[in-house]
Amino acid sequence: MSDRLKDRRVLITGGASGIGAATARLFAAEGARVAVLDRQQEATQAVADEIGGLALGVDITDWDQVQQAVAHAANEFGGLDGLVNAAGIFAGGTLLETDLATFRNVLEVNLLGLFAMCKASAPYLLKQPRASIVNIASGVAILPFVGQSAYAASKGGVMTLTNVLAQELAPTVRVNSVCPGAVDTPMTAPMYSSNSVKDQIASRYALRRTGQPNELAEAILFLTSDAASFITGIALPVDGGRTFH
Ligand SMILES: NC(=O)c1ccc[n+]([C@@H]2O[C@H](COP(=O)([O-])OP(=O)(O)OC[C@H]3O[C@@H](n4cnc5c(N)ncnc54)[C@H](O)[C@@H]3O)[C@@H](O)[C@H]2O)c1
Repeated sequence: MSDRLKDRRVLITGGASGIGAATARLFAAEGARVAVLDRQQEATQAVADEIGGLALGVDITDWDQVQQAVAHAANEFGGLDGLVNAAGIFAGGTLLETDLATFRNVLEVNLLGLFAMCKASAPYLLKQPRASIVNIASGVAILPFVGQSAYAASKGGVMTLTNVLAQELAPTVRVNSVCPGAVDTPMTAPMYSSNSVKDQIASRYALRRTGQPNELAEAILFLTSDAASFITGIALPVDGGRTFH
């Protein structure tokens, strides 16, 4: 490792699992102080203990909890330089199959919760010279599948919100999104187990395979680090070529 995040203080939501946990591990290995925020209390503590980070057992849809957790991390670290929003949930279903409660719940976590995290963190990030936000959208925000009305709408919202914030928080804070393709995590394990889905992935993805969480973490690291110092407002596909293929 090469200390690409030396002296950075970064809050990572969804840090107890999948892409968020891989990002927490990589960021810590690159010298960052990491606050792991997730609603899974035990898993959050386990990742934080493993990397010497701060555990914050929080539901991002609860504005009071979010404000307290962000203030706690900023106090503990003496400021915040980065935010990675990886917390999210998936729900499949066409328009006719998706009930309003499901649609509302997906938007509440994936879009409103992410907005709350950005809103609570921005006052701290705006005080730092090299601050960054990376939001995890999805390849379906660029090229949606049928049967994902709630999820794709929430991720389209994340991509657009990212562009608004990139302008509002400029020039102090860079704000970008990454758009993952199919990545092997606990969220997707139930979906990718069938052979028919594996065949679909082989035909839709130029690289003919699913991604691994650390491949996303590397892209998130790039966007957070000084290597991306002239990059803001982009939606970076990290998807094995699915959205151009
Ligand atoms: N895995 C994929 O194929 C894929 C593809 C595109 C986008 N994404 C996005 O990447 C992000 C990470 O997903 P993952 O695959 O690592 O999933 P994951 O289920 O492994 O991790 C998501 C984490 O978010 C946490 N979380 C969910 N709701 C929360 C809430 N209200 N408050 C706090 N924490 C909450 C969960 O507890 C979990 O630890 C998500 O935003 C997801 O939509 C994943």
